[in-house]
Amino acid sequence: MPAVASRYVVQPSTRIHGEAAIPGDKSISHRALMLGSLAEGDTEIQGFLESADCLATLVALQQLGVRIDGPNDGHVIVHGLGSAGLCAPAGPLDMGNAGTAMRLFMGLLATQPFYSQLVGDASLTRRPMERVAVPLRLMGAHIMTRDGRPPVHIHGGHSLAAIDYELPVPSAQVKSAILLAALRADGRTRVIEPAPSRDHTERMLASFGVELLHSGGTIALQGGQTLRATRLQVPGDFSSAAFFIVAGCLAAPQGLMLRGIGLNPTRTGLLDLLREMGADIRVRPWGESGAATRSAIEPVADIEVYASPLHGIKVAAAAVPLAIDELPVFFIAAACAEGETLVRGALELRVKESDRLAAMATGLGRLGVEHELLTDGVWIRGASGFGGGVIDSHGDHRIAMAFAVAGARARAPIEIHDVDSVRTSFPNFMATAQAVGLQIESCP
Ligand code: S3P
Repeated sequence: MPAVASRYVVQPSTRIHGEAAIPGDKSISHRALMLGSLAEGDTEIQGFLESADCLATLVALQQLGVRIDGPNDGHVIVHGLGSAGLCAPAGPLDMGNAGTAMRLFMGLLATQPFYSQLVGDASLTRRPMERVAVPLRLMGAHIMTRDGRPPVHIHGGHSLAAIDYELPVPSAQVKSAILLAALRADGRTRVIEPAPSRDHTERMLASFGVELLHSGGTIALQGGQTLRATRLQVPGDFSSAAFFIVAGCLAAPQGLMLRGIGLNPTRTGLLDLLREMGADIRVRPWGESGAATRSAIEPVADIEVYASPLHGIKVAAAAVPLAIDELPVFFIAAACAEGETLVRGALELRVKESDRLAAMATGLGRLGVEHELLTDGVWIRGASGFGGGVIDSHGDHRIAMAFAVAGARARAPIEIHDVDSVRTSFPNFMATAQAVGLQIESCP
């Protein structure tokens, strides 16, 4: 990323309205490229997210010898090499800002017969990688981190054995890395989840013809299975839609429409939280509306949001993993809700692209919101709107976009610094926000 990052200036906006175009799902786009590369045959992907994070995965796979056509307007063809077809990269594989890419590649590359090194930007280089390295070492992989963080060195060529592993934290990235390694491990691997986390890997493996067994919180996968190429339609990213869902709740009396959004139940906790606060959110599953064909592997729906008065809630710790990436923008909704909102059990937010608890608390303070930062959460007293102020996004895309949404209820301009990171997940965010009435400009 460039050293001098740009800013958003968001003027108080009056009304949010119309239709917001939401790009493809980031988690699913990463996985589609990786599984397509390991498959026998050509996998066709539609709706691929052309963001910096997913392009880092694409370039890394090309460095591993995979031929990939596109992306061309969300259309990608991956010429799969089979699970034993990758070749040694000539140099380090750069994951940029993408934690998902790095952690999933650790599992994928642990099974390969060559050495590889994974590096990332300053933010990624601060993030914990031992949570993935530990179970992979138990399987027999030779992996080194630097004090638990990137760069990650993977000394391939060691055969892996299946494990039974209980995840210490509910993490889809750790679960997915283990499942990718399990594909080439000897025996049946079992991953036990303490609480459900996003299950895109499991759904997508099944659509590539891999047999998995789900029972309670346990996922079992027998090693040595072949992936068969398929066609994938990537739905709109619920996490990107979340910014506009909240903007609609705050300032769309006539409604705001979001079409074709992935509604995987392991991702949509934000809808439950907002509804509990009194939000008017209407969901039309595609299968029911008949408006378009249903995605083969992920539920998809149109979402319509109307502004309504919100009230504060106490969020149960069990609800946190199902809304983990949406909590920054949820805090913006809470700041506009009558009464108090309390979120606990969200320690994981401290090890995302930034310390999201600290970044959000500091930003809320700058905009005059009464709040308290807790070790594992935030307490917020809502009010009618935000004062103006200057926000440091800490180079975190979701912090930048969350505070842009605050503009829908601001009384004075909000200036958000260091926003280049938005291109990691939502390259068109500013144009999309402008189209629905947010008064947002970018400045150098
Ligand atoms: C992701 C899993 C989550 C999420 C991240 C994407 C994935 O991380 O926060 O943005 O695609 O698997 P954890 O696995 O660390 O919870």
